[in-house]
Amino acid sequence: MSATLITNIQQLIGTREENVLLRGAALAHLPSIENAFVLIEDGIIAEYGAMYELELKVPQLPKDIIDADGQFVLPCWCDSHTHIVFAKSREEEFIDKLKGMSYADIAAKGGGILNSASKLNEASEEALFLHAWKRLEEVSKLGTGAIEIKSGYGLTVQAELKMLRVIKKLKERSDLSIKATFLGAHTYPLQYKDDHQGYIDSIINEMLPVIAAEKLADYIDVFCETGFFSPEEMETICKAGMSYGLKPKLHVNQLNSIGGMEAAIKLNAVSVDHLETMTETDITLLRQAGAQGMIGTLLPTAAFFLRMNYQPARILIDNNCAIALASDYNPGSSPSGNMNFVVALSCIQMKMLPEEAINAATINGAYAMELQNEVGSITIGKKANLIFTIPIPSLAYLPYCFGNNLIDKVMINGMFI
Ligand code: NIG
Ligand code: FE
Repeated sequence: MSATLITNIQQLIGTREENVLLRGAALAHLPSIENAFVLIEDGIIAEYGAMYELELKVPQLPKDIIDADGQFVLPCWCDSHTHIVFAKSREEEFIDKLKGMSYADIAAKGGGILNSASKLNEASEEALFLHAWKRLEEVSKLGTGAIEIKSGYGLTVQAELKMLRVIKKLKERSDLSIKATFLGAHTYPLQYKDDHQGYIDSIINEMLPVIAAEKLADYIDVFCETGFFSPEEMETICKAGMSYGLKPKLHVNQLNSIGGMEAAIKLNAVSVDHLETMTETDITLLRQAGAQGMIGTLLPTAAFFLRMNYQPARILIDNNCAIALASDYNPGSSPSGNMNFVVALSCIQMKMLPEEAINAATINGAYAMELQNEVGSITIGKKANLIFTIPIPSLAYLPYCFGNNLIDKVMINGMFI
């Protein structure tokens, strides 16, 4: 057995004896221990506590002891919504947007998701894997220890399966905890522009059976939006996915409120993601669904990058909703997977408290991937996925000092990366 003891931690953040999905006011409570230790055995948190309890809780000290004097230690970020398998970046569209085009304009002229799809169709599985692997390495150095990854830039049977096989390989080879989501319904490919049923049939009859047979996905997603998939189409696609055991995690209410929330609730979705555009009714629905465990995942860097209104985080929290934060890392609306910035932006622009943002990006993010028994807090039996900060004066300094790298090192499964 390998054992490591971390001692003299200035503050150990996110210590929880039990798992709870945090809703409303509970999000502001982030338990922590000052002057603390953590014992790690075989990559798992075996014990933790205050330094004065060390002798009692760890009678036999291991050889490997790391002094974390002055450092804050947090559970790694749980990024529950990304699209990190893509072939190429899209900074040419970024320039188009600077010159005045909207996200919808770009999509309408064959840019956006379709642009990424044509690039992905040309790329080999090996190349896609290598690019995605680099992005995983990049985000893990920024403190991400668990991540959800979607398909959705294939849009053909072959290319969607290629993407999902890349994600499967990432799962097999990476030390990060990874969940895979099938997003064949990201947009209608050009040849199905006027034949929606044709593409839905392809998803249901050609893609899903292979995905199920090869166990390529954990979840199913649909981009429910004007000009993309209607709530009814989303229901049809999700029901087919659910018949293979894939639970819905859905893109809703990004640009318009078109009934995605109602449909998501009927489908008993694990999470509803984006939520830039929320009506009073949507908020009420999310509050009611939150009581049943449905999570609203806010993606503030997408709002930032597309210069949209931010998600109404304060109103959602004050309405007792269960909120998670994720990066949406993708080439079109959020070309960054930096969860430190997501947390900072959530505080700066959405007025979340540091405790709320950190909870939403750790334990609630873990819930949004159904990984709450594995990651998301400092809890005995969970993976030792830990962020070590450089010496900082307080926890609030993390979002306050946005854009600065405050991470000294990151541990995944008990090993420094
Ligand atoms: O979550 N909104 C839909 N899908 C992605 C962006 C896709 C793209 O522009 O490539 C998102 O923001
Ligand atoms: Fe997304």
